[in-house]
Amino acid sequence: MTPLHEVIKNKNTKINPIWIMRQAGRYLPEFREIRKSNPNFIKLCLNNILSSEITLQPLKRFNLDAAIIFSDILMLPYGLNQKVEFEKGFGPKLGKANIEEMSKLDEVDFVEKIYPVYKAIKQVSADNIIKNKNVIGFVGAPWTLLVYIINQQSPKKKLKANFFKNDFLINRILLILEKFLKIHIRNQIDNGANVIQIFDSWAGLLEEKDLPNYVYSPTLNLVNYVKSLNTPVICFPREIKNYKEFCDIVKPDAVSIDYNVDPKKILNDVKIPIQGGLDPKILLSDKDTLKKEATKYLDIFKDHPYIFNLGHGVLPETDPNMFEYLVNIVKSY
Ligand code: CP3
Repeated sequence: MTPLHEVIKNKNTKINPIWIMRQAGRYLPEFREIRKSNPNFIKLCLNNILSSEITLQPLKRFNLDAAIIFSDILMLPYGLNQKVEFEKGFGPKLGKANIEEMSKLDEVDFVEKIYPVYKAIKQVSADNIIKNKNVIGFVGAPWTLLVYIINQQSPKKKLKANFFKNDFLINRILLILEKFLKIHIRNQIDNGANVIQIFDSWAGLLEEKDLPNYVYSPTLNLVNYVKSLNTPVICFPREIKNYKEFCDIVKPDAVSIDYNVDPKKILNDVKIPIQGGLDPKILLSDKDTLKKEATKYLDIFKDHPYIFNLGHGVLPETDPNMFEYLVNIVKSY
């Protein structure tokens, strides 16, 4: 069994597999090189030759236990024919969503539009370097995708005024998302993804009273779907105030934690396998601090099934040597 499956399925506490969110990205010179001649991010995600190469770049350098496919959670609204662009220094910019059109969209047309993503997963899964490692497929959680679809850009700290004004519209979008997220997940698994991570990057924006409607119910539905396909599912409800309640209700196979929660409290509260936590900014400090902070997480979770990762994506300013140092700390713990 692969190290990730060993921890998630067998609750093995003796090993600490490691992969890193955004491990394929701008901190790697070989990624920036490809990016320079491919200014259109969506087109790059749809170039399966390049996207599978980018996916494997970090595995060629570091002793990681999983590849995460180079794509984006916003490929889903793109597949639903919403305009999606990435502007340098600004982030994602979306067009206005046409809900009438989205609700009439055919599965075949959706799959055809983002087909190269699945082709890339197939190519990556067939690569020798993946032997005894996992290929992680992923989706954005319904709530986080809803935020982008309506807000049309990253919300930073808050949602735009009147975000919840049109209940009817929101419920229609959630139904559309449920349908196509399942299709997207199934196609990733059919092409070789053997772990699914659900990114709920904006879970922390909601008040407690809104969590059942927008986070718990729609995510539980997806988690049950992934489980029905016999594939482990990791949830990352970033900055949710109550990880215990989330895990008790949604019951993912593992939960990824952000860097603002106290790992000791998590250890006490959460009984399922845990992933992540270390602040990505620690990689910008020095080796001694990095060793101390990474070891802190490894010590706290030494008798709990634990997958090493960060509390959010690796920052573009990160020195690849620090990344390598981190992998070695975890591997030699
Ligand atoms: O983790 C990996 O290595 C796999 C690839 C991956 C990307 N995006 C590639 C990417 C994954 C898993 C994502 C998920 C994603 N995308 C999330 C959830 C995780 C999180 O960060 O909270 C979100 C919210 C998005 C949406 C998104 N994509 C934003 C807000 C941005 C702009 C911010 C930025 O860093 O520029 C992106 C762009 C993006 N997605 C990049 C990469 C490598 C940077 C693109 C570039 O080269 O300019």
